[in-house]
Amino acid sequence: MNVDDITRVAVLGAGSMGHGIAEVAALAGYEVALRDIDEDLVQDGYENIEWSVEKLAEKDRLDEDPEVVLDRITPLVDLEAAVGDADVVIEAVPEVMDIKTEVYGSLEEYAPDRAIFATNTSSLSITDLSEMTDRPEQFCGMHFFNPPVRMQLVEVITGKHTSEETLETVEALAESFDKTSIRVRKDSPGFVVNRILTPLLNEACWAVNEGGADIRTVDSTGKYDIGIPMGPFELADRVGNDVAHHVLEYLNSELGEAYEPCPLLTEKIDEGKFGEKTGEGWYDHD
Ligand code: CAA
Repeated sequence: MNVDDITRVAVLGAGSMGHGIAEVAALAGYEVALRDIDEDLVQDGYENIEWSVEKLAEKDRLDEDPEVVLDRITPLVDLEAAVGDADVVIEAVPEVMDIKTEVYGSLEEYAPDRAIFATNTSSLSITDLSEMTDRPEQFCGMHFFNPPVRMQLVEVITGKHTSEETLETVEALAESFDKTSIRVRKDSPGFVVNRILTPLLNEACWAVNEGGADIRTVDSTGKYDIGIPMGPFELADRVGNDVAHHVLEYLNSELGEAYEPCPLLTEKIDEGKFGEKTGEGWYDHD
């Protein structure tokens, strides 16, 4: 499929990444189906998009009326209705293999044969996920960064079976979203960004755990000395401590003990303090 043939994008999962990806697609003029497993989750995702689009308008970052953008998005629970006429399906459901298996199992039943499947997974194997579907050659990674509407980069990741045509179409799709894509040629744990970024978040935790500095000092150092836009703890709260922990566990299992999650991070997971999305993480977000 050529990018010019794409008019409808379905996004599965309305969480922190899914709603942001749906917003980006709608801003680019696509008809978007935003799907999650219950009304409350879809509604929360839609309300987050409303907030964000209003914020863009307020900051003079929007070329059209917020209502016009919002009208392109249909929030849905019914999977068949969401993907039945989709040209591209972008999957952004939780990083739990059982959930991914269930979603891909039903997806191939309802999505048209022409549809490309792209996963926003942060670290899982694109090849393994593609093999859950009936179209591994029409499957690749399309990894956005949080918040998708403000972050320029998209990793386009090739799996073992991905065709060149699929990669080129998804790269062109990213460009039509006004993003810059990089092609990740090896389906390796964490791809490029998370292989580099999550150890930074983890090392920040180890530094605090070992008593070298407190959270605010580490964040200030990151911002003012290293020059990153958010400190490691602020960023972990934005990305989600659960997401960072999950990526590290996966890197740990695939690449070894250098990636072992720091106990301080694991503590946050046990306490359900995932960051902005739960109202509490390293900082209080209420
Ligand atoms: N939609 C609309 N507006 C948003 C927004 C969103 N989703 N998120 C933040 N804003 C708004 C803020 O509310 C703020 O508005 P107010 O000033 O009214 O409070 C405004 O944007 C801030 O904008 P600025 O441009 O002034 O601020 P900034 O220069 O600090 O940029 C940022 C904000 C782009 C988020 C910047 O801090 C940044 O780049 N942070 C790093 C984010 C990052 O690295 N993300 C990648 C994480 S890794 C990942 O996601 C992958 C993974 O798999 C784990």
